[in-house]
Amino acid sequence: MKFYIIAFLIIASFGVDIDKNTFSNYREVKMQHLHIEWLLNLRTKIIDGSAEYTFKVTTAELKEVHLDIYQMEIKYAYYPNVGKVLDWHVESDPKQSLVQGDKLIIKLGQSYKYGDIFQLRIKYQIGEAARALSFLSVDQTDDKKAPYLFSQCEANNCRSMIPLQDTPSIKFTYSATVLTQDSQINVFMSGLPVENNKFALMEQYNMNGIAKIFQFELKIKIPAYLIAIVAGTVQEKATGQRTSVISEAKNIDIYQKELEDLDKYVKYLEDYIGEYKWGFYKIVILPASFPFGGMENPLLTFANPSIIVGDKSGVSVAIHEIAHSWFGNTVTCNNWSNMWINEGFCVFLERKGLLQLFGEIDYVYVNSQVGTKEMNALIKEFNTSTDPVVKSYASLHPITEDHNADDSFSTIPYERGYQLLFYLESIISETKFQQLLKDWLRQNEYQSADENDFYNFMITWIQSNFTIEQFLAVKQQIDSVYTKWVYETGALPVKQGFGNHASTQATDLAEEWLSSRPGEQPQGYEIFDQFKSNQKQLFLSYMLEKYINMNTITMKQLDLSYNLSENKDAELLFRWYTLSIQTKYATTNTNLNQIRSFVGKIGRMKMINPIYKALDKNTAQTWYNENKNFYHPLARQSIENIIKSKGQQINVELL
Ligand code: BES
Ligand code: ZN
Repeated sequence: MKFYIIAFLIIASFGVDIDKNTFSNYREVKMQHLHIEWLLNLRTKIIDGSAEYTFKVTTAELKEVHLDIYQMEIKYAYYPNVGKVLDWHVESDPKQSLVQGDKLIIKLGQSYKYGDIFQLRIKYQIGEAARALSFLSVDQTDDKKAPYLFSQCEANNCRSMIPLQDTPSIKFTYSATVLTQDSQINVFMSGLPVENNKFALMEQYNMNGIAKIFQFELKIKIPAYLIAIVAGTVQEKATGQRTSVISEAKNIDIYQKELEDLDKYVKYLEDYIGEYKWGFYKIVILPASFPFGGMENPLLTFANPSIIVGDKSGVSVAIHEIAHSWFGNTVTCNNWSNMWINEGFCVFLERKGLLQLFGEIDYVYVNSQVGTKEMNALIKEFNTSTDPVVKSYASLHPITEDHNADDSFSTIPYERGYQLLFYLESIISETKFQQLLKDWLRQNEYQSADENDFYNFMITWIQSNFTIEQFLAVKQQIDSVYTKWVYETGALPVKQGFGNHASTQATDLAEEWLSSRPGEQPQGYEIFDQFKSNQKQLFLSYMLEKYINMNTITMKQLDLSYNLSENKDAELLFRWYTLSIQTKYATTNTNLNQIRSFVGKIGRMKMINPIYKALDKNTAQTWYNENKNFYHPLARQSIENIIKSKGQQINVELL
């Protein structure tokens, strides 16, 4: 306990705003604008790139610029106007090179002083080693007409596609020019498409063979991790006045129908939090290998096709990504140990939107219960680790230093963060907390912040919006939990049940199955078919938690009763399949082949990682080898880690 108080005081007094996951000297010099030009060659999987930076000096004397890079070839660094070539070298720590990348050091050839502004250009080349990028061959696409490319930059992967200050605490405006060599290929990037933008670096390319030119611009400042690109035979269809969907032709009508209410979702969130300031909202439904459910790239959300279920049950992912337009994209965490400043706040706003969508708080609480269940299991797992880094993942302030920040990613920043905000709301009332959040956004608009900033803001806000007696009481209540909630790794200091009828229906039914006699269906088992998707998720999460008590005869009965192995909803399938492996129900006579084909059809880490974790080492390795080419580099990395951490035991039933 003492340790945490001391740790907190140290962190508080020296400022948490130092990002330990960047090699850049971002506190001495800041990117203000970035312009990139890319020549795409999707067949050879090579991109020739140029980047032009406008830097502002924030130290007394600056002689070097240090940028983050990951597995790229730097060709030249030079001053744009005079064309003077600059000395550069890469400082590389072999232990870090494939973890967080390397430091590119550019010698400026002169010294700059505080407040100076200067420009710099870099020419470079990237290819398949860029871990942000997934290059798909023609046969891996839906339309089968041209190759496809998409990116995923969060957390620290932008440095594999552009040399830059890859930290969420640096925000800049950006523009891009992208050249393609195949006229069928369309390109979209986060930001607005523009024409007749500057062609600063173009004359240096051989224009033979250039088929199309695309240009983009974003005048709102963003951090590096929000830059995104998709290129392929993709097209756009309107879903409303200010929303649209982008995808390959094959399924675009289905996607457009499922997402027909996007305008409404933006409106729901505006009703709670205030104006949507980004103008348009577009969502790209990517190939199924997209490693996440959704990613909040500004004006260009990316989503996995698994969110298109057919009954709109997956649209909460879209609502979550829209919610990031405020929490994450307007106010941004200033380092990855503070990711809950993005995700916890975002889930809070998402659930305000879901309340309007479902019309009943019960169904929102079902989501909170599913989240809480999964969070509690993880807190238990991480908190018992002997590795202090892994242990810290159970808190809201994971240790990310010397690690790939993605390693700390889990549902904890989402749910532990959400529950903290839910608790704070219960202390100061819904209307007051809504106002506090609006003011927090206004004060930190287009900036980055951390948990100390939020704490300080909140205390000041409460002081000026309550009587002195109320303020003192509320402050005491907050102080008794805040540091525990954020920095400690154990269970939450306050237990909030989210009890409600819809959840009880789901968990009661699960309980009945768990205590049913093998081969018998519990009375009233048919109610399952009337459940909403999230109740079914809760039912399966409950089973997963207690799977020790499940026998394969009951599993068979469950499968027959609800046709689970054939379900269309991937949120249910991945849980059911994981349960099938854990209970040893999955064999070649039951659903093992369906599971094997599932992990080859979907690359969303949340859905395939639990399956790979449940498999024995040999089977996991065999399935992984079959699908490696299909997965995004980030998914590859995480599955390889899962397989590596497995013991040698072989599960004979699965062979
Ligand atoms: N920003 C995240 C995705 C992410 C987080 C990518 C960290 C890389 C590192 C996105 O907004 C997200 O939370 N996606 C969820 C959706 C869900 C919570 C509704 C997902 O992909 O499952
Ligand atoms: Zn999110």
